[in-house]
Amino acid sequence: MQGWKKRIWPPPDWNEYVKAGWHKPSQAAVHQINQDESDSSLIQLGKGELSPEIFPLELMKQVMERVTARLTRFGYEEPRGYLPLREAVSEYVKRQGIEASASSILIVSGALQALQLISVGLLHRGSTVYLEQPSYLNSLHVFQSAGMKLAGLPMDEEGLVPAGMAARRRQESGAILYTNPCFHNPTGILMTEKRRQELMRVCEEERLPVIEDDIYRELWTAQPPPPPLKARDRHGHVLYLGSLSKSLTPGLRIGWVVGPEPVIARLADIKMQTDYGASSLSQRVAAEWLASGLYEQHMHYVRKELAKRQAAAICALEKHMGQLASWDVPGGGFFLWLKIRGKVSMTELFAQAHRQGLLINPGNIYGQAGEGYVRLSYGYASLTELEAGIERLGRIVARLLHKAEE
Ligand SMILES: Cc1ncc(COP(=O)(O)O)c(C=O)c1O
Repeated sequence: MQGWKKRIWPPPDWNEYVKAGWHKPSQAAVHQINQDESDSSLIQLGKGELSPEIFPLELMKQVMERVTARLTRFGYEEPRGYLPLREAVSEYVKRQGIEASASSILIVSGALQALQLISVGLLHRGSTVYLEQPSYLNSLHVFQSAGMKLAGLPMDEEGLVPAGMAARRRQESGAILYTNPCFHNPTGILMTEKRRQELMRVCEEERLPVIEDDIYRELWTAQPPPPPLKARDRHGHVLYLGSLSKSLTPGLRIGWVVGPEPVIARLADIKMQTDYGASSLSQRVAAEWLASGLYEQHMHYVRKELAKRQAAAICALEKHMGQLASWDVPGGGFFLWLKIRGKVSMTELFAQAHRQGLLINPGNIYGQAGEGYVRLSYGYASLTELEAGIERLGRIVARLLHKAEE
């Protein structure tokens, strides 16, 4: 053993590796929101999820018992997903006016995964993704990490304004449009029938493919939204995304893509190379919810609860923030897009709110167009917390506006 020396082997420099990965990290505020959304000591005023009070625990148990009673061996599923679920989705989207066979449906682990698969499976680096300005997509780096550029399009109260897109589109190859026409995240805007027709006409003329993210469709409170773009898609321009996350629970991680078969085959292949499919158990549970009719039944309840919550949030806003912010009342979803009357730093507002026990989504995480706005969710916090949270937010905003005037 002579000459043997105990040597210390330093570990690899993980920091270098961490910086080397090609996927861009989240924005600092988004990172913090992701961490703190499970902190129950904070009032969740931004969370894009239905309240635990709305969660259908008894029905979920019933559904799971039915699945358990019929359970046989389960393992990997077909690349496009569990056939009975795809059949149930096919029936479900038919009621929205979409004709889609089970083979033109891919089951994904939430709509976000569909976006990820599209970014790596259909688009080349340097291509352009048109999107509403502001947009949920700006709060993530899915497309940018895959080398795409995001190009914002203006919105008005009817939704995305397609004028101007055609000229820009002619200078680009391989572009795609991403739109969230029902109760848009973050603004809550519902695209009108007229605008849907106009948008489809422009996209067809320009041969521009569309990703229609329709995951808030079921959450209407005033009246059902106009049919999806996909329902009027004669030539196969539209990839249609649905999900159970906003209407039932994100915990199942179940969503779907409806599109032309070659596209579905391509995305299914990438999904296989990514995770070999969404959870077999979740797929069975989702199939039972949809096929049994319990999902539609539950939606009546969700809509009623959301309408109550919206009324309570607006009442609290009028009382505590009427002089400090303005907002439009959306016809569904669970977001209010508050425009602060005056200039406040979003970073400071977020930090101050956090210090005082509130978690909010500052509008600028959805892009430049969200500067000076807050996305308030009335879907998650209890009614008591909503009122208390809005009152506290009002006091913070008033103080910041006062400071800015000094
Ligand atoms: C517009 C939009 N699309 C997609 C997603 C992702 O949803 P999922 O949980 O189905 O992946 C969200 C979640 O906030 C969203 O707001």
